Amino acid sequence: KKLIIINGPNLNLLGKRETNIYGNLTFTEFFDTIVKKYPEVSLEYFQSNIEGELIDKIQEVGFSYDGIILNAAAYTHTSIGIGDAVKAVTVPVVEVHISNTFAREKFRHKSFISPNARGVILGFGLQSYELAIQSFINPS
Ligand code: DQA
Repeated sequence: KKLIIINGPNLNLLGKRETNIYGNLTFTEFFDTIVKKYPEVSLEYFQSNIEGELIDKIQEVGFSYDGIILNAAAYTHTSIGIGDAVKAVTVPVVEVHISNTFAREKFRHKSFISPNARGVILGFGLQSYELAIQSFINPS
């Protein structure tokens, strides 16, 4: 199975950004471990701080891959464009968040992704991504 993790703005700073919330590991360190841990899937990683680049990537992979694992970060709460892209593509999208967004500020409670996501996994730290991968390996 061909899966891609798409990360949105500021997630390139994982490991140095608000480490009390997001942890000490960089995403590339984490990505290396999950690539080895789940050899049964082909895993790609894309990150951008730019809304349109995230939309371009969702469109590019969204009709051919087996799954998209999307952490749109702050754009989750603001981007009708990314929400529409998720709706437009045929590949299932699992929305993930590192933190429990519902335990945080009210503006993080709204998601433009969730209504069209296959499912949502949040609050488990970086393990949220692993649970998303597992949902594609072992679909219910
Ligand atoms: C986040 C939660 C968002 O509210 C925030 O803007 C992020 C990261 C998370 O993974 O917990 O940048 O998506």
